[in-house]
Amino acid sequence: MERQIEVHIDWDGATLPVGRLWARAKGARQTCSFAYDAAWLGLSGAFPLDPNLPLVRGDAHWDGGLFNAFSDPAPDRWGRSLMGRRERALAKAEGRAPRTLLEADFLMLVDDQTRLGALRFRDQGAEAFQAADTHPVPPLVALPKLLAAARRVIDDKETDEDLRLLLAPGSSLGGARPKASVLDANGQLMMAKFPSQTDDWPIPVWESVAMTLAERAGVVVPPFQLRHVAKRPVFMMSRFDRMADGHRRPFCSALTALGAADGETRSYLELVDVLRQDGADAPGDAAQLWRRMVFNVLISNTDDHLRNHGFLREPGGWRLSPAFDLNPMPVDVKPRIHALALNETDQDASLDTVLGIAAYFRVDKDEAAAIAKAVGDVVATWRDVAGQHGLTANQIDRMASAFQHEDLARAVA
Ligand SMILES: Nc1ncnc2c1ncn2[C@@H]1O[C@H](COP(=O)(O)OP(=O)(O)O)[C@@H](O)[C@H]1O
Ligand SMILES: [Mg+2]
Repeated sequence: MERQIEVHIDWDGATLPVGRLWARAKGARQTCSFAYDAAWLGLSGAFPLDPNLPLVRGDAHWDGGLFNAFSDPAPDRWGRSLMGRRERALAKAEGRAPRTLLEADFLMLVDDQTRLGALRFRDQGAEAFQAADTHPVPPLVALPKLLAAARRVIDDKETDEDLRLLLAPGSSLGGARPKASVLDANGQLMMAKFPSQTDDWPIPVWESVAMTLAERAGVVVPPFQLRHVAKRPVFMMSRFDRMADGHRRPFCSALTALGAADGETRSYLELVDVLRQDGADAPGDAAQLWRRMVFNVLISNTDDHLRNHGFLREPGGWRLSPAFDLNPMPVDVKPRIHALALNETDQDASLDTVLGIAAYFRVDKDEAAAIAKAVGDVVATWRDVAGQHGLTANQIDRMASAFQHEDLARAVA
């Protein structure tokens, strides 16, 4: 079985063909091939979508599902769960066995309007980029409905209408948590992250606390806000992969940029290498990444894996994307061990380790000490910021171990 897919990109104000993707499945094995379009290869400013897809003529082959560049704009756990539920519901209605959805099916079921990054896909010969049963992106006023639908999905009690509501706006972004895209009052795309009744603490509220601290500590984050919808917290962010005029910005995860596999342990240092090889502002972004690393250590944001960092393409090269998915993690739930190594090999949270590799990020010693102190001073206000978010004393104490540790004490000393 083979699916032939045209790949286009929204770049420099227009949607251009970038190449052709052939995805196939033989038994349990899924493989794909990709060839760039000659026009893309000849375009000045063209860039490779993936380190495994250098800008050369001819077919490139991959035997592990899809190239990473095409898994970034495909759904992750939450979106796949919605698509799997929809397939089961359809199969039941049609009195047939559910189909196994392949990587390419998941990719093509994503809504074009909300799809992450600048790539756009259509089956060979199709006229539109839209998936078959796409609906318009809902406005903000639809949040209560979306939230209630997500809640029923998590409870395994969803209706067909719930899936219809959530699928298009909810499957286009990666990640495991329940979420949906909505349009704000100005028609701009926003990403809404929902709470789950299975959460041990109000995660959207803590994400907002973390983002507030990050912003104050000089870590670049997208515009965000915490909303209360039917008394439940929803964390909302502007999309950094969209421009004000509606055009798209190419995005690649750090996983793609490094040519890595899911679950592989890599290092922050390798992200600096990406910036150095093809960055539009390597010195500025490397210093920003170092500051982000200090922040992640100080708030115990240990889930800093390769899909939680990314790059945005500008005409001059890659830029570090704003920080996202920042969440403090209490040590009784997870020890302070980061997903990414802080130096060549060490994943243990430690301000000393981070200070020890500042030179690799071209941050000199004095500057590093000043940044660590400035970030530490902001993080030290975490109780106040949490209180201003309406968290109770008990809820704040529950998170204390994420913030109160020797690294914060050292940073502010
Ligand atoms: N502000 C944003 N604009 C555009 N894309 C984003 C934004 N924030 C996150 N993303 C993308 O959406 C994915 C899922 O978001 P994330 O916050 O990581 O959700 P989860 O908590 O489910 O992992 C990210 O991996 C990233 O690729
Ligand atoms: Mg994430």
